[in-house]
Amino acid sequence: MKRILFVCLGNICRSPLGEGIARHLAAEMGIEVDVESAGTAAYHQGEPPDPRSTAVAEKNGVSLAGQRAREVDRRDFLDFDLILAMDRSNLRDLESLRPASATARLALFRSFDPAGEGDVPDPYYGGPSGFDDVYAMVERTCRVLLEDFR
Ligand code: 4NP
Repeated sequence: MKRILFVCLGNICRSPLGEGIARHLAAEMGIEVDVESAGTAAYHQGEPPDPRSTAVAEKNGVSLAGQRAREVDRRDFLDFDLILAMDRSNLRDLESLRPASATARLALFRSFDPAGEGDVPDPYYGGPSGFDDVYAMVERTCRVLLEDFR
């Protein structure tokens, strides 16, 4: 089974939405894929997703239950087929962490966005509307991404 890892900075706002939405859509679309998420920083190691991410997911019928933040590991570059960075800063951090033996493909998440490439903006310090924007962006991008796995 193909494995996809979503990566942001803290693994509490954006990448947990990537994981939850991709898992939800894959089930709905009948696609077999294993999804996880991680952060380039360990500040929130072991914590559940930010309540604002959980709320926007629930409002849209998606559960983030059971998710816990973890830091990305060099082994992830061998364990996953595709590692997706939520923004360019995450991508640079992943590039410097990537071991020479890496087999995973590394890409910017929104390189799959039908509305155009760019960053998924960090909603952590903003208001709740930031989480709605992130949700919409992640949802439309995951649909296209998962179509590629059919
Ligand atoms: P995330 O958001 O990378 O989407 O999980 C953030 C969460 C926490 C922090 C920054 C971004 N922080 O600085 O603690």
